Amino acid sequence: MDDRPLDTDEVADIYDELLKTYRTQWEYQGHRSLHLGYYDDDHTEPGQAAMNTMRVLSDAAGITQSDRVLNIGCGAGEDSVWNARAHGATVIGVNISDEQLEIARENARAHGVEDLTDFRYDDFHELSTVEDDSIDVVWGLEALSHSADRKTVLEQLQRVLIDDGRVVFTDIFLRPGTEPLSSADEKRLEQINEALGIRVGPITGFEEALEASGFTDVRIRNMTDGVLPSTKRRRKFSRVAHPVGRVLGKVGKLSDVQIEAFEAHSNIHKLVTDGTIGYYLITADTE
Ligand SMILES: C[S@@+](CC[C@H](N)C(=O)[O-])C[C@H]1O[C@@H](n2cnc3c(N)ncnc32)[C@H](O)[C@@H]1O
Repeated sequence: MDDRPLDTDEVADIYDELLKTYRTQWEYQGHRSLHLGYYDDDHTEPGQAAMNTMRVLSDAAGITQSDRVLNIGCGAGEDSVWNARAHGATVIGVNISDEQLEIARENARAHGVEDLTDFRYDDFHELSTVEDDSIDVVWGLEALSHSADRKTVLEQLQRVLIDDGRVVFTDIFLRPGTEPLSSADEKRLEQINEALGIRVGPITGFEEALEASGFTDVRIRNMTDGVLPSTKRRRKFSRVAHPVGRVLGKVGKLSDVQIEAFEAHSNIHKLVTDGTIGYYLITADTE
């Protein structure tokens, strides 16, 4: 795995810039998620599929009203609000972008769950605002890929979780047996990592990291087929937006960050369809 350090301020800047693109999607999809949609027979529209991703994580973690959930990398608050509304769970959401945190608070107020949610500025490598042994479930929906040092994150999660705590994550990972990558795929992966401020690593390495950090009963489910329509949609959008974006970029209408992100989404779809990258759901417990 490319483990060159990531600067959290740079990651926050990438997101704050990409919010301009996301906001246009939020308007017509009716929600503020920043994640891939999970499609099945009952969830065939983009907005429904994005909601379905949260349902799948929530079911896998068995979240109930009595759970105190820590959402690492809480984006614009959609998945925290969802857990508060669906289960009445209390949720702390952490993020490294003040702009996203403010949108998350507005989102919670708009849905009447501001008393159940608490959005804090905190880096998930530090969790300096979260007390020891205070969390039942850690939830990370496409957040951990923003870490080049997952060992440190997992140590912090062990600190804040109670005994018998649970973790649930989804993210993109390299599929087993895909390394070494061809030089063309290596370049695509590098472009994705740089453009989105992430570090895509192998799923097998993440399983080992969880076990080395003391997590038990690690379970991994491959959800790639269900998110394929979502990566395809992003690629379709990017195919139009990328060349147009280059022109608009020249006249100052789109930033380099947005243009690079369009290319990254095309590259993700390519690597997903050629079997290099998969989308995985991971659950594990503390002892
Ligand atoms: C792909 S978005 C997912 C957001 C949200 N979970 C959702 O599904 O809508 C990843 C999020 O992680 C946040 N993030 C990245 N690095 C972080 C860090 N070191 N600490 C806390 N949050 C981080 C980003 O700002 C962004 O909000």
